[in-house]
Amino acid sequence: MRVGPSRTAELVCLFRAMEQRRPPAERVVDDPLAGLFLGPLTRVTLSTLEGSSLARRLPGGLASPLVTYVQARHRFIDNALAAGLEGPAVQVAVLGAGYDTRAWRFAGVLAGRPVYELDFPATGRRKARIARRHGGELPESDVRRVEIDFLTQGLGPVLAAAGFRPGAPSFFIWEGVSMYLTREAVKATLATVREMGGPGSRLAMDFWFLPDGPDLQAAARRFTPHLLRLLGEPVTFGMHPEDTGDFLARSGLRLVDQADAAELGRRHVPDGRPVYPANHVVVAEVT
Ligand SMILES: C[S@@+](CC[C@H](N)C(=O)[O-])C[C@H]1O[C@@H](n2cnc3c(N)ncnc32)[C@H](O)[C@@H]1O
Repeated sequence: MRVGPSRTAELVCLFRAMEQRRPPAERVVDDPLAGLFLGPLTRVTLSTLEGSSLARRLPGGLASPLVTYVQARHRFIDNALAAGLEGPAVQVAVLGAGYDTRAWRFAGVLAGRPVYELDFPATGRRKARIARRHGGELPESDVRRVEIDFLTQGLGPVLAAAGFRPGAPSFFIWEGVSMYLTREAVKATLATVREMGGPGSRLAMDFWFLPDGPDLQAAARRFTPHLLRLLGEPVTFGMHPEDTGDFLARSGLRLVDQADAAELGRRHVPDGRPVYPANHVVVAEVT
């Protein structure tokens, strides 16, 4: 089990906070609370970017395709959650929640529905400490923090022990996590989503995959996952977009929506910034 708070969780939180420097109409994602959860290093990075005249002059600022992907997947899942909360969902579970701020950003539409945020203890506790410190800035919301290691603990019993209502229509978010797990753990989690969620429940998640192609760019993209090893969180699982529907179906989930980089760009990136092409996002429904 990871001992310290997740570095990738803080990194993607930084990517969301970076978008706040743009005018609202130009933002891929609008997460005004992300900045609260940055540590000293990511805070300095953010203010350096904000203060850099070079960053302002570059087309699209310093948005690298991977940053834009992370922002666009968050927006995609924001929209899926908003739609899910108009439906029958009575509870939300965020698996590998990191510094996801949706429990507060969606507090109005959640209207008291509980949000179960699951993560390793160190990350969950750091988030809870920061949330307590900024209590006055966060709207009232029923956030329930749950400690788990997806690789060694069964999601079902952990959720049930935390008060999650098995079989009730639910909305699950699993963002930026499947790539750090084993195939076995991913399948076990999907099976639990089906069992715990009940018919009509929805899951929004993303997958990493290795793009094929003989050119240098494709080779570099196949290498990128190894860089995350330097943060102590190596990429270990991937799923090609063409295979996702069948993979989910074998776990009793029907693919409802899917967006690869090009589609995310079309839907959510107003100024045509490139989106990193080795990931895709899906919404699936329990059948
Ligand atoms: C890249 S971060 C994404 C965080 C958040 N979903 C977001 O998009 O901002 C991955 C998160 O998954 C959590 N995670 C990874 N492996 C896990 C495991 N085996 N058990 C519990 N949490 C895990 C990490 O602690 C981290 O918070």
